[in-house]
Amino acid sequence: MAKLRVCLCFSVIGLLLSGTAEAQAPISRNDTDRANALLKEMTTEEKIGQLNQPFYLKLPITGMKIDPVAYEDRVRRGEVGSFLFLTDPKEINRLQKIAMTEQRLHIPILFGFDVIHGFDTEFPVPLAMAASWDPAMAEQAQGIAAEEAAHAGLRWSFAPMLDIARDPRWGRISEGAGEDPYLGAAMARAQVRGFQGTPENPRPFMATLKHFAGYGAAEGGRDYDAVYIPEERMQNVYLPPFRAGVEAGADTVMSAYMDLNDVPASGNIHLLRDILRTELGFKGFVVSDAFAVGSLVTQGFARDSTDAALRGATAGVNMDMGSATYLERMKSLLDQGQLTLTQLDDLVRPILVAKYRLGLFENPYADATEQTHAEMLAKHRQIARVAATRSVVLLRNEGDLLPLAKTTKRIAVIGPLGNSKGDMNGPWSLTAKAEDAVSVFEGIRAKLPGSQVAYAGGVQIAKAFPSSFDGLIGPKIQTPWTPEEADRQMKSALQLAGKSDVVIMALGELTIMDFEYSSRSSLSLPGKQQELLEKIQALGKPIVLLLFSTRPLDLSWASEHIPAIMDCYFGGTETGNAVADLLVGDAVPGGKLPVTWPRAVGQIPIYYAHTTSHKPYDSPEFTSRYWDAPTSPLYPFGYGLSYSTFSISDLRLSTKTAPLDGSITATVTVANTGARAADEVVQIYLHQRFGSASRPVRELKGFRRVTLQPGQKQEISFTVGPAERTYWSAAKNGWVAESSNFDVWVGNSSTATLHESFSVVQ
Ligand code: NOJ
Repeated sequence: MAKLRVCLCFSVIGLLLSGTAEAQAPISRNDTDRANALLKEMTTEEKIGQLNQPFYLKLPITGMKIDPVAYEDRVRRGEVGSFLFLTDPKEINRLQKIAMTEQRLHIPILFGFDVIHGFDTEFPVPLAMAASWDPAMAEQAQGIAAEEAAHAGLRWSFAPMLDIARDPRWGRISEGAGEDPYLGAAMARAQVRGFQGTPENPRPFMATLKHFAGYGAAEGGRDYDAVYIPEERMQNVYLPPFRAGVEAGADTVMSAYMDLNDVPASGNIHLLRDILRTELGFKGFVVSDAFAVGSLVTQGFARDSTDAALRGATAGVNMDMGSATYLERMKSLLDQGQLTLTQLDDLVRPILVAKYRLGLFENPYADATEQTHAEMLAKHRQIARVAATRSVVLLRNEGDLLPLAKTTKRIAVIGPLGNSKGDMNGPWSLTAKAEDAVSVFEGIRAKLPGSQVAYAGGVQIAKAFPSSFDGLIGPKIQTPWTPEEADRQMKSALQLAGKSDVVIMALGELTIMDFEYSSRSSLSLPGKQQELLEKIQALGKPIVLLLFSTRPLDLSWASEHIPAIMDCYFGGTETGNAVADLLVGDAVPGGKLPVTWPRAVGQIPIYYAHTTSHKPYDSPEFTSRYWDAPTSPLYPFGYGLSYSTFSISDLRLSTKTAPLDGSITATVTVANTGARAADEVVQIYLHQRFGSASRPVRELKGFRRVTLQPGQKQEISFTVGPAERTYWSAAKNGWVAESSNFDVWVGNSSTATLHESFSVVQ
């Protein structure tokens, strides 16, 4: 078999792989010259100060408290390159003024924060944004988040989170784009552009690609636990979103916590130098995850804090988030000659360059006026509402229960999340106010003023999941009801359901369960929600289940007994209004799953792009690998229903044989065959039949979300060229695009059946 090893240097491969990649925004000569000139003026202590990023946060669990006077002194002495977690514009301006006037060289402070999916206005959580399959929407949302954060004086978000996650036990699955590298790369590019603008139209704000790299592969889905990722999986699955983010020009990268192949990511030279700097060509600066430099000791890697500072610095971590290890230990390393002044300058330079690029020296302050802020927010809420509708995935709609008639008289909203405001904002919504969010109950009442809409909680999601972040991330977890109260609540929910024409059940998880160190060993509906659901179903009323959580939950019973199910994630500030729009058909669901939905926790990890094995899943003699469950998921990756119907047909390839450096074009016709204007997401999947490695049964290689009027048709074309066919081969120890035979499927999920094939020959 003839194969071609594509021997291209890594940056060229990068462009090839990302397809539509833009070149990294060039770092301006001028900014570098200014940084170099400033470095010449700085003392060693001032340089080390630029590498230091203290928390400005009260976190009782760690004993962390806010001490404005101590911060002032540190700023005056030039010991603070950046603060994280300070979001009050007055305090930002106060400290900045000290930096700009009382500190020797007047170097501005960079204020950074976790602007994950909004600031004042919350947008859907990132996994939900990925479910929209609408990168332009994600770009717009992060642009708005950046604008709001910048009004408070912030110039740096610790987002986007680009960790591929194939294990829903891991709570942080909510923060990324799900299981697929192609979708992940598309969302990465979009979010970087949203935060930072484009090279032609840059925004004075920075994105952070995190957590570099492989954090989503934590063993057992346990947050922070070790990951083992062989090179081929790293290159083919975990790195593509980072590669795309670097190419889109991201200014910063955050090094992860966990051990990657037994070396902590924040002290991992291979990861941070060979891969990030040399292969991906990253030119910005690396910030550690919080306390990660100090943790190199805890992780059994560094001998002591001084060694931790050395290991972090040598690996290329420019800024130490939170641990003050650089601040306290770096001077002694320089004095002893273990670190050179040139190395120190190399660590500091990109931080200064970033401050120049942001225009911070000229424009260091927050300048929001109350009035412009209010006007801005009103506009943003409208966009947030659209974003929230676009990210909902309709999983089931038996008998076309949805959309509901606007004339429906008696509507019961039932479930612990039906009247929650704060939870709707989603995890990592630290600055948005819970009271600004719209609950499901409020949204439906506002939408249907002529209907009787009533609410009952029925059950609660109580203290079964204790967390140290209780009350900080999401609303405070309730103390459990007494047995009598629980009984009373259950009865009144059943009573309400019994008197209603339709029941809207709002079930799921608390936002805090979809957060950092919030793993779960089960995917069941927490508490007694399943019992409530079954009891209400037994009443025989039409039920719509709205699921609020980011990880897929166990819907095996519901998927057979509840006629309508919508996966709502956490939609942000406008959740309730968006859900109401969808319930009555003022908006039509068009989202698609960004992760494979397991039937049971025992199937994890489960993802569509697995390899074939010697007994493919569809072999007639061996259809299941479990005694007690099918191998197939409950809902496949890319799946989602609509209130309309679509046909995708007439798959045509421009050629059946292409040369190694050639492309084929795959064209289909998509038609709205239903009676409503609606969206479809057309997806193309590729499979290479043989080569120097076994390739996944299918891999997403393109998608397009289109809006079609009833009866409207559209032709959609995808290019399958060397970029789409290139992969990292362990056998070749490098990138290859091989001559082989290929299958192509186009459709509206990863189980698309419309098929063609072609060959690539040398
Ligand atoms: C730890 C998290 O892992 C990271 O994502 C976040 O940006 C930092 N804390 C700062 O909040």
